[in-house]
Amino acid sequence: MILYFSGTGNSRLVAERLAAFLGETLCSIDNESMGCRIGDGTLGIVCPVYAWGLPRIVEAFIKRLRADAGSRPRYVWAVFTCGDDIGYTDTCLDKALRASRLGAGLDVAFSVAMPNTYVCLPGFTVDTPEVATRKVEQTLQALPQIAGRLKAQTGQGEVVRGACAWLKTYVLRPLFNAFLVSDKPFRSSEACTGCTLCAQQCPTRDIRMDGGRPIWLHRDCTQCLRCFHQCPQRAIDWGSSTEGKLQKRRLGRS
Ligand SMILES: Cc1cc2nc3c(=O)[nH]c(=O)nc-3n(C[C@H](O)[C@H](O)[C@H](O)COP(=O)(O)O)c2cc1C
Ligand code: SF4
Ligand code: SF4
Repeated sequence: MILYFSGTGNSRLVAERLAAFLGETLCSIDNESMGCRIGDGTLGIVCPVYAWGLPRIVEAFIKRLRADAGSRPRYVWAVFTCGDDIGYTDTCLDKALRASRLGAGLDVAFSVAMPNTYVCLPGFTVDTPEVATRKVEQTLQALPQIAGRLKAQTGQGEVVRGACAWLKTYVLRPLFNAFLVSDKPFRSSEACTGCTLCAQQCPTRDIRMDGGRPIWLHRDCTQCLRCFHQCPQRAIDWGSSTEGKLQKRRLGRS
């Protein structure tokens, strides 16, 4: 079983490839996937890194996670997708798993670089097409080897922590979560055609249509930026800081 969350398709692509290599079934983490059954086989988790830690939606899902009665997963692995580096996201996941009713921690973790999706602060923007393409190619090349190591269930993982990793995960991340994980700055422009895609696709059902335009409900936004990146009219902005910025290019069916 591979549990995955993907805001804009990077982690989904990685999860799908790993599922094919490993012959595992996929289960998407969103508010409607509480039915995933965790038995005593292998459990894989694939998700993006948000502010050098787990997306809120993944943290909340792990809290509710429990194995079937009388069983616990034998081997738990994670593959994180990131723009650059993950800080101590793997340690956060291990801690969250151990605190859950799953009865197991994280055995091994890998990180892979994928096109950046974070655009809400000045200086942060999507990768150039060349950089994005190179990241995807390198990751797709690396996945068979990662899958081989996951299959063998031996050896060390490989993550890119980046510089000042501890500071990023344990000092900057709480500040980011407190002040920047918010749907309040989201707005749509006159370019909106009322197609409803953003409302249909929000993984936390935080968007509702009202008078032909989206409104954000200030409930469970996980800051995945799917609404920003997938709007066909480029009609969504997060305050003024995303104005003029490009959306992430589509990956396959993302
Ligand atoms: C809110 C947010 C925070 C992010 N924080 C990080 C980060 O700390 N480190 C990093 O390398 N990439 C970061 N990124 C980039 C994503 O981890 C990366 O683009 C990921 O592959 C997106 O996967 P997805 O398409 O499955 O959502 C962040 C993206 C978002 C939206
Ligand atoms: S996806 Fe874009 S165009 Fe469609 S309803 Fe949402 S904001 Fe409007
Ligand atoms: S409102 Fe937008 S950023 Fe927030 S969870 Fe929904 S799609 Fe993601």
